[in-house]
Amino acid sequence: MLPSKSAKSKRPCMTIKSQPAKSPIWRKDFPILSRKVSGGKALSYLDNGATSQKPMQVIEAIDTYYKRNNANVHRGIHELSEVATAAFEGARSYIAKSVNAKNPEELVFVRGCTEAINLVAQAFLKPRLNPGDEIIVTILEHHANIVPWQMVAQEKGAKIRVVMVDETGSIDIDSYENMLSSKTKMVAFSHISNVLGTVLPVKRMVKKAHAHGVPVLVDGAQSTPHMSINVSDIGADFYTFSSHKAFGPTGIGVLYGQYHHLETMPPYQSGGGMIERVSFSQPTTFTKAPWRFEAGTPNIAGAIGFAESFRYIHSIGYEAIHAHEQYLNSYMHDMLGQYKQIKVFGSTKDKAAIASFSIDGIHAHDIATILNSEGVAVRAGHHCTMPLMEYLGLSATTRASLAMYNNTDDIDALARGLDKVLEVFHG
Ligand code: ALA
Repeated sequence: MLPSKSAKSKRPCMTIKSQPAKSPIWRKDFPILSRKVSGGKALSYLDNGATSQKPMQVIEAIDTYYKRNNANVHRGIHELSEVATAAFEGARSYIAKSVNAKNPEELVFVRGCTEAINLVAQAFLKPRLNPGDEIIVTILEHHANIVPWQMVAQEKGAKIRVVMVDETGSIDIDSYENMLSSKTKMVAFSHISNVLGTVLPVKRMVKKAHAHGVPVLVDGAQSTPHMSINVSDIGADFYTFSSHKAFGPTGIGVLYGQYHHLETMPPYQSGGGMIERVSFSQPTTFTKAPWRFEAGTPNIAGAIGFAESFRYIHSIGYEAIHAHEQYLNSYMHDMLGQYKQIKVFGSTKDKAAIASFSIDGIHAHDIATILNSEGVAVRAGHHCTMPLMEYLGLSATTRASLAMYNNTDDIDALARGLDKVLEVFHG
């Protein structure tokens, strides 16, 4: 059944008094957004939780690197190698400043959050883990922040403990506090849930863990496109974020680690670029962190593009991004709320710009397929959060996730697509 005409006529949302621009001026910087899809339909890209689109500034920075400056880093004596090394290490410094790390050497370049978490699980936690120890995660974690811990726990006879969420998607802080004990050897949780949009009280959670002497890793995969991150203020031992979710290239991310941890961690992968001296007659010795964790030729163009994506974000400002996203988020949730057939998951007060929803009797993949035919790109499935899906009693949801370049036309296209879904299935 379609929502009633009177309900639908309430769109767009009338409760918002001072409306920022319907379409942000920076949208024009993203060339892909003007292409057509699905046989000539305008693209409404609402799959930003999976990956973001890239502005010209980032594309050009990568293009310039390959056209003018490409060489390997930390190795050559020639001019191009020096230019490439300065650009690569300059990228590390710029990103370090962007997240307020104390020192660029607290940043390890990795492929993304998945590799960062595996690195910490293997090189930091495994050597300290004993049978009977405990690792605390939450029910809303992405598989990348579950499976690496499960693997070390299994190997060492340790146990995973899980903090639940309430019906709004908020973390049960009391039960988290009660779980912390002398057995706890690591706590790991997301900054923002990729399904529920919950923004976790990371600073408070870190403080609680530290009161028990427990180190913390925060998975920031969904945070940097939306909010300014201050790793020193958050105080976590480790914080991970990737470039591609925040308007930079794929295949590169950062593991931030407090240097006193990084400097004592053994290498995770080995090869060129991470050694001090290699010999067949004496033990091989390794260079210092962060380079000790960057075996092989790094993703140089990726790092340069990554830094450029932060430069781009700063040119707009997180405040302006947040204001625009909050407006669109309300617009989207008000629209979805007008369909009595749609159930949206996650309703915390400061929810990030994500709406995961289901429609009784219609599979998420069917919803996404019909939306695609209207040019609307969303993600459907378990979103790499099978334990959360099981907890919610679902196998899948459809997820619309916003970024700073979305506009009200994108949300209106989603609404038209949902009308079509209901028309096809409910007649
Ligand atoms: N973690 C990404 C998502 O939530 C891929 O879609």
